[in-house]
Amino acid sequence: MACKLVILFFFVNLLMQIPKVRATVPAIIVFGDSTVDPGNNNQVSTVLKSNFEPYGRDYYGGQPTGRFSNGRIATDFISEALRIKPAIPAYLDPKYDIEDFATGVSFASAGTGYDNATSDVLSVIPFWKELEYYKEYQNKLRKHLGKDEANQRFSESLHLISIGTNDFLENYYIFPTRSSEYSVDEYQSFLIGIASNFIRELYKLGARKVVIGGLPPMGCLPLERTTNMFFGSDCIDEYNDVAKDFNKKLRGAVTELKQELGGIHLVMSSPYDKLMEMIRNPSHFGFEDAETACCGTGFFEMSYLCDNMNPFTCSDANKYVFWDAFHPTEKTNAILADYVVKTTLAEFQ
Ligand SMILES: *[C@@H]1O[C@H](CO)[C@@H](O)[C@H](O)[C@H]1NC(C)=O
Repeated sequence: MACKLVILFFFVNLLMQIPKVRATVPAIIVFGDSTVDPGNNNQVSTVLKSNFEPYGRDYYGGQPTGRFSNGRIATDFISEALRIKPAIPAYLDPKYDIEDFATGVSFASAGTGYDNATSDVLSVIPFWKELEYYKEYQNKLRKHLGKDEANQRFSESLHLISIGTNDFLENYYIFPTRSSEYSVDEYQSFLIGIASNFIRELYKLGARKVVIGGLPPMGCLPLERTTNMFFGSDCIDEYNDVAKDFNKKLRGAVTELKQELGGIHLVMSSPYDKLMEMIRNPSHFGFEDAETACCGTGFFEMSYLCDNMNPFTCSDANKYVFWDAFHPTEKTNAILADYVVKTTLAEFQ
């Protein structure tokens, strides 16, 4: 008996000394909207830009990059946590080339949505065009690394999608076109159909690791609270409910796609609850304000209205959940990224 125990301990010991085999992620490929756009819109003729101060004032060198934040965005922190690099460059930024993009690239465009009609509103890059850029990137990387190595890399890279808020807040609830055509429920299904097809296309292009983000509590963005001024500037419950409902449907679609697409590692990340926790209990995270933004008066400013001429901008963005009326501060992005890395992305590390 004692002898068997000794042998057992020997094997347990041996097993514990074998290093855990880790799946490696050589690159992060990003698609989506301003939540993950590191500056593609700088190269696009749109009014939706942020490549001027005070944007980026807490970024490396205090540089405005086109990120809609005072510093880094969530995908930068995710890239760092996966030990790849501290920031993911924008595909259209001429300062970078295929060698930089080989370890991570973002095709995202602020203001865009699943729906073509959403990207039309502010003339930004439509979602389908992001996929066209990805195909172009794949060809460039095959030339750069050789076909086999490049293809291997596409299958091992983490493909991350973060988009959808603008379809509701910049499109459905603003313009009558979609809202007269579709009920909210139908519009959600329409968008999720586009999301599913996008993932199928990625799969055809060799992607095997995909994470798609759900919607945030979009009724609590400072701009939405401002429109709710006559009701005490509370969060707009209707929008939050739409987000929760959308996330439930998206989760269902993800489950189906996993059945359909053999060998895919597809997960959905939902920052909804974590962001809501910060909004409901800001002091727990060291924040002082979760209702108004740091930039300007905090009620409505973003893009060109959030510039250095605005005298009201706060001095310490770390006290705020939101940087401008629509986007989180770097600190919020870091907390969300850390949460996603430790939960949803655990299987990719
Ligand atoms: C969006 O536009 C592109 C290009 O015109 C088109 O190929 C695609 O089918 C459109 N998507 C939807 C869902 O209508």
